[in-house]
Amino acid sequence: MNSLTKDSLMSAARVGLGGDTLRIHGGKPLTGRIEVRGAKNLVTKAMVAALLGDSPSTLKGVPEISDVHVVRGLLEAHGVVIDSPEPGVLTLDPSNVVSAHFAEINAHAGSSRIPILFCGPLLHQLGEAFIPDLGGCKIGDRPIDFHLDALRALGANVKKLDDGIHLTAPDGLTGAHIELPFPSVGATEQVLLSAVRARGTTELKNAAIEPEIMDLIAILQKMGAIISVEPNRVIVIEGVEKLRGYLHTAIFDRNEAASWAAAALATRGDITVGGAEQQELMTFLNVYRKVGGEFEVLEDGIRFWHPGCALKPVQVETDVHPGFMTDWQQPMVVALTQADGVSVVHETVYENRFGFTEALNEMGADIVVHKDGIASITRRVPRRKLEQAAVITGPTPLHGADVRVPDLRGGFSHLIAALAASGTSTISNVGIIARGYELFLDKLQQLGAEFEVVATEA
Ligand code: EPZ
Repeated sequence: MNSLTKDSLMSAARVGLGGDTLRIHGGKPLTGRIEVRGAKNLVTKAMVAALLGDSPSTLKGVPEISDVHVVRGLLEAHGVVIDSPEPGVLTLDPSNVVSAHFAEINAHAGSSRIPILFCGPLLHQLGEAFIPDLGGCKIGDRPIDFHLDALRALGANVKKLDDGIHLTAPDGLTGAHIELPFPSVGATEQVLLSAVRARGTTELKNAAIEPEIMDLIAILQKMGAIISVEPNRVIVIEGVEKLRGYLHTAIFDRNEAASWAAAALATRGDITVGGAEQQELMTFLNVYRKVGGEFEVLEDGIRFWHPGCALKPVQVETDVHPGFMTDWQQPMVVALTQADGVSVVHETVYENRFGFTEALNEMGADIVVHKDGIASITRRVPRRKLEQAAVITGPTPLHGADVRVPDLRGGFSHLIAALAASGTSTISNVGIIARGYELFLDKLQQLGAEFEVVATEA
């Protein structure tokens, strides 16, 4: 059994999915209302931040996704007492942080990149940290060199082991000047979680400023931190000796919201996404309108619907915030297969994030991937060596097929394609989707989709 299927089965089991394969009967517009809760890409980091406090934290808006279970397991392995007094709420008590056995960390880590963010908090709490080899979606090499360079700059000793790394900081961590080669989300979080209790001040240049980063900074400030966000991607962190627990409600999951919006377009449907907010989706909404998608910002969410006429082709460049997010391109590509003309999507953040298009072509789409990207005159984002581009020619009717989920966002795009397609599709490895999409089967049911869960593969 390959590692992806193993990950998928474990992920499916963590959230009680009951099966790892779906049979979808497509061709029916998705209509109705669903709710999105806290962002996977903030909630998991907020849970790690609780390790830095000297009293319990309470996090609200926690989605029932398997990545949350992975981080919970890792924190409990380090002695954090976690409770869920009600659905969507976690209390995290770090009063008794202990070193965890490597095997235990490994057992939990497998499919996630989050363990790398334990470095700073564990170095502050224990003076050392073991970090296993990281997992996460296979959408590029995903090195951690920026993380390790930043930790070394803050005074950590980094020792590579066969199956991970061992870090120590016998004299604690000390503020430093750090400039990131690329505004990496993970490396910015690394510096925030490590420098916040270091001696002295850290200046971080070329930092990521995604909404999830701002929400993490809000949490750290609630804990007692002094962090200022200055113009031109500079973040200044004045280290403090101790932090207390926080009470916080997580920012909504804009990636999940954008995914359901794309599903409304691709299935000619009408979906209201409760909990979605305009501010964090500005760039997405502009592209959605350029394609012809309709939306209405409501008091408690955003309604998305198909215009009932031909969709228009667009050119999209993925980018760091406030640009078009790389996690939005997969679901939107499915919608663009139904646009009247040629669309181009330039992926500038990851070097290998078009694998999911093979299955879409099996379902009748016409997508050509240019592995070295395409030079285009009307570029807004500076060209990156690693980028690729996809040329999508539409509209092409989609038909059912048997496909295997390759990664989280690619998997959701396969769901959308199967729902938009005529006939029946079988999608396996759907456990991967449960890593970042809360209760997606219940939501599909709410929106009128027709499908069955097929028993788990042996
Ligand atoms: C976070 O990944 C998100 N994951 C990703 O979402 C998201 O796509 C990404 O940020 C960009 O917004 C989580 O928050 C768990 P990066 P992260 O560091 O932090 C290179 C999803 O679908 N890089 O900003 O891993 C890297 O290879 C996931 O929810 C280095 O070269 O992303 C990539 O090309 C997928 N060296 C680029 O920077 C480093 O040390 C951006 O990566 C670190 C990163």
